[in-house]
Amino acid sequence: MIKRTYYLETFGCQMNVHDSEKMAGILEHEGYTRTLEPKLADLILFNTCSIREKAEQKFYSRLGRIKTIKARNPLAKIVVAGCIAQQDGKKLTARAPYVDFVFGPDNLKYIRDIAAEVAKEQFVLSENPALTDEALPSLREDGIRAWVNIMYGCNNFCSYCVVPYTRGRERSRPSRDILMELRDLAGKGYKEVTLLGQNVNSYRSDCDFPELLRHANDIKGIERIRFVTSHPKDLSSGLIHAIKCLDKVCEHIHLPLQSGSTRILQLMNRRYTFNEYREKVEILRENIPDIAITSDIIAGFPQENDLDHEATLQAISSIGFDGLFAFKYSSRPGTKAEAISGHLDESEKSKRLNDIITLQNNITDKKNKQLEGTVQTILIDRPDAKMKPGQLTGRTTTNKIVLVNNAASIPPGTILSVRIVRAHRHSLIGERISSR
Ligand code: 5AD
Ligand code: SF4
Repeated sequence: MIKRTYYLETFGCQMNVHDSEKMAGILEHEGYTRTLEPKLADLILFNTCSIREKAEQKFYSRLGRIKTIKARNPLAKIVVAGCIAQQDGKKLTARAPYVDFVFGPDNLKYIRDIAAEVAKEQFVLSENPALTDEALPSLREDGIRAWVNIMYGCNNFCSYCVVPYTRGRERSRPSRDILMELRDLAGKGYKEVTLLGQNVNSYRSDCDFPELLRHANDIKGIERIRFVTSHPKDLSSGLIHAIKCLDKVCEHIHLPLQSGSTRILQLMNRRYTFNEYREKVEILRENIPDIAITSDIIAGFPQENDLDHEATLQAISSIGFDGLFAFKYSSRPGTKAEAISGHLDESEKSKRLNDIITLQNNITDKKNKQLEGTVQTILIDRPDAKMKPGQLTGRTTTNKIVLVNNAASIPPGTILSVRIVRAHRHSLIGERISSR
């Protein structure tokens, strides 16, 4: 068999990272090995993201640089998968004629035909596909923490967002398939799983999401269960109860607020008011006092005025998030928000983004400082190249990164009790107490 190589570059969210694991799984099954040098590859695959213009520009600039590689090695196959593929379709090859194949996030399996050199179509883009790719062999390299899809697509149509267009309508995987995958991961020694969906709270197959968590919690070997992302409008008392009562479900929820102004939330089609959001946070904290709450905010949505921006800053202060991802609003083709009047200029959006980041940095520093002296249990990660000898890292159940010195003999995957001795903005320093 001729040895062939692939180069794979992934842009965007965890969903894409996991889709890439599936495509890598297929490619390796077809006899390909990975190379980190595009110029040495027989197949160059980009898994793309179109959530914001910046992600799109980054990809197109990478693609531009691949042109010379294709010119030197015309036999190399250039493949574009993911959300830009779905969104731009034929426009993509008009812009970059050297691209050989384009397929969307719901057509991952097509990489098999491309790898086996039997692919007939240049474009494979489904509008709203059936659930077909759950059995793909993921190439997971971590060994400790794994991503697992529980549902695909989104029905929410937030007015700024391309996801419902690029990833189609919501489809939930049957619980038995998910649980089988979790048991298989546990058998391979995985300790932590993160259940992935655009809106996990609307997971519904033969059971609902809290029930899925209950079954997952019973799997021997899996020590920690996380999930992303939760839409505030669908956060149910059943889920709060599940986080509270199931010992393996981590005390962390990513609950994107997007704006603290109810007027802007309405324009965003988020279907909750700020008060409703705040009430949900209060119920979460009453039930699970140590829960970490992280969020997403969009700065400078169309028509956002100074008062709306103030309301967002106020909301961030009053809630006190453990972490925040803040983004400048980016106009996306085909979305409702693109057509709203009153878009803000870039400098105003940058200023507002900066206000948000500065405020949150202060909050993060204070929250982390409060953890000094506390005891936390961390799941030890695989060592990474940037670490000094004798150092290890892990995450608390609330998803904070902890660095421990003088502890090299502890194997990855161990749950360790540490005392937090110092807090930085992006990590905590811990000292070993004992292993469980
Ligand atoms: N502009 C800026 N941010 C966006 N997000 C989604 N679409 C856009 C957009 N058009 C952000 C939201 C979402 C996160 C994944 O990305 O905050 O929660
Ligand atoms: Fe996009 Fe809203 Fe769906 Fe999240 S819930 S993927 S922001 S449409």
